[in-house]
Amino acid sequence: LRKGLITPEEIRRLAEEKGYTIVAHNYQIPELQQIADYIGDSLQLARLVTTIPSQKILFLGVDFMAEMMKVLNPERKIIVPVRHSTCPMANSLEVKDVIEAKQKYNAPFVVYVNSRTEVKAYADVVCTSANAVDVVNKLDSDTVLFGPDKNLASYVAEKTGKKIIPIPGETGYCYVHNYVKEDEIRFLISKYPDAKVMVHPEVPSNIRKLADFVGSTSQMEKYPTTTDAKEFIVVTEVGMLSKLENLYPDRKFIPVSSMVCYNMKKNTLKNTYLALLEEKYEVLVDEDIARKARRAVEKMLELTR
Ligand code: 13P
Ligand code: SF4
Repeated sequence: LRKGLITPEEIRRLAEEKGYTIVAHNYQIPELQQIADYIGDSLQLARLVTTIPSQKILFLGVDFMAEMMKVLNPERKIIVPVRHSTCPMANSLEVKDVIEAKQKYNAPFVVYVNSRTEVKAYADVVCTSANAVDVVNKLDSDTVLFGPDKNLASYVAEKTGKKIIPIPGETGYCYVHNYVKEDEIRFLISKYPDAKVMVHPEVPSNIRKLADFVGSTSQMEKYPTTTDAKEFIVVTEVGMLSKLENLYPDRKFIPVSSMVCYNMKKNTLKNTYLALLEEKYEVLVDEDIARKARRAVEKMLELTR
């Protein structure tokens, strides 16, 4: 590796030379969004990869997303720059919690895509923050086990009127979204009184109550097309801002500066360049687990078609 800073242009050149398509989650740093061929939410990207010709993918995000991509694209080589870029919320739910809950309640288990792959293998159906309400509404049961995000679970309960049992319960949340301060949002609202407030459903209900719009990152991306508002307070991970600013250069997007996902930020220009140079780290998923997890994803696609 040569000395000095790596430029985005060098990474693009190397990716083309080695035949890699670069796919990045909406929360990546702006420089990495700039070099990506595709940017989106986790499931959108995993599904999109099935449609592109490239057999080699460099994924920029966190581990459960990379594994999801492998589950849906088992024949492709998927590499990531960092081995331990993970999601603490996904890790908060273990297979033993699911087995226990299933023994206690006779109810289907809906797993949020932000979960470990082996947990997805025990789920009846996967959901994303974009379709969680729809998936739960379509299930033929008034009681549903839902995990790992307790805040998304409470949003789904509110919207569907069904009995939602969150697993693992109190410990299942995203630290980036769960600890948003109501005072900070109220302060931003007073500073930008004309701004629309968009929030991710991983925030707690007191923050949701301040929102004009609740949606996943892919839904937030479309929200500005539905309103004449010129300013938006964006209550999700700060990486989303550069995506929105690129899409709508004439609008103003106001971040909540405390909302940083440290694992998403482990990917840098330098380790991305190295990943391409050495073609590692390859993402591998046990075939049996992948097959079972795929079934839960397919069930979601069937329900939301
Ligand atoms: P989206 O599925 O909305 O992109 O969210 C992913 C995530 O990690 C939220 O914190
Ligand atoms: Fe996980 Fe939260 Fe980071 Fe999303 S923002 S990857 S839910 S820790």
